[in-house]
Amino acid sequence: MTKPPKILYDCDTGIDDAMTLLYLASLVQAGEAELAAVGTVHGNIDPMTGALNTLRVLEAAGGPVVPVAVGAARPMAQDVHYAVDWHGTDGLGDTRLPEPAGRPTAEPAAAQIVRLARATPGELTLLATGPLTNLGAALLLDGELPSLIREVVVMGGAFDHPGNITTHAEANIWHDPEAADLVFAADWPIVLVPLDATHPTAVHDDWLDRLAAHGTPVSRFAADILEFYADAYTPTLKRRGAVIHDALAAMLIVDPELGEYAHRPVRVELRGELTRGTTVWDARSLPADDARRPVKVAVGSDVAEFQERLLSALMAF
Ligand code: RIB
Ligand code: CA
Repeated sequence: MTKPPKILYDCDTGIDDAMTLLYLASLVQAGEAELAAVGTVHGNIDPMTGALNTLRVLEAAGGPVVPVAVGAARPMAQDVHYAVDWHGTDGLGDTRLPEPAGRPTAEPAAAQIVRLARATPGELTLLATGPLTNLGAALLLDGELPSLIREVVVMGGAFDHPGNITTHAEANIWHDPEAADLVFAADWPIVLVPLDATHPTAVHDDWLDRLAAHGTPVSRFAADILEFYADAYTPTLKRRGAVIHDALAAMLIVDPELGEYAHRPVRVELRGELTRGTTVWDARSLPADDARRPVKVAVGSDVAEFQERLLSALMAF
């Protein structure tokens, strides 16, 4: 039997990050994954609010109890922006949840990545579903980090799909293009899960209604938070629904067979007047004229299986 993946989750909690935390908690409770720690980063919300939200969600799930470290409060080379229109001013759909019982740790999230990678060389999977500032900072802190990490799984980018924050850029990459390009330039195995794969997984009323009707405390908690997100997504999807981007990246860690992939080096546009923050790959015939290590890019997934597994996980508590 293969060992369950040991995951360090870096996120900007955030509604779909919150669903991903619940999914990860269900995996941990089923013995299918280990959650080593969480780090938070600016993005949907500031990183302290993201850390408190992380604690709220894990406590609602009944555990696991893991260190939650606060990370970078701003990107490397631009101003910070939050996504309150999509996630609410509290990051959890304006549900105004009470203070969590736990507190974030004192260690910065980038230092936590380096420490845990050094403590368990070759074992850690970094799951990143926010801007990549903490991962970029960890690479700058420790040049040997890529050789210590088992795999990096990132939700971000858009290739043949339009952007979701500018015409061409996806939010997680656009929030810190310099950090993202550092991550794609490093010599470690990366799985990138862009909008091309996540957008087609949108869930709609039938799925949301099944979750709300289940009636357990955790399913009601998830359904309440998703209300705001589904309202925000209605104009884009042209019907009520939600794209739970980040959970697909998590699911592809435990079941990579659910995805379809292309393997290409990836770069981030850093100077474009209209396209800053866009992920770029060379789509001409291979070999690509780029010495970077190819990234395993998810270009599609088994949508029905993803939706059913996520729903089952949210109803499992
Ligand atoms: O573009 C989707 C990503 O941006 C998700 O990670 C979501 O949480 C937002 O941060
Ligand atoms: Ca996110």
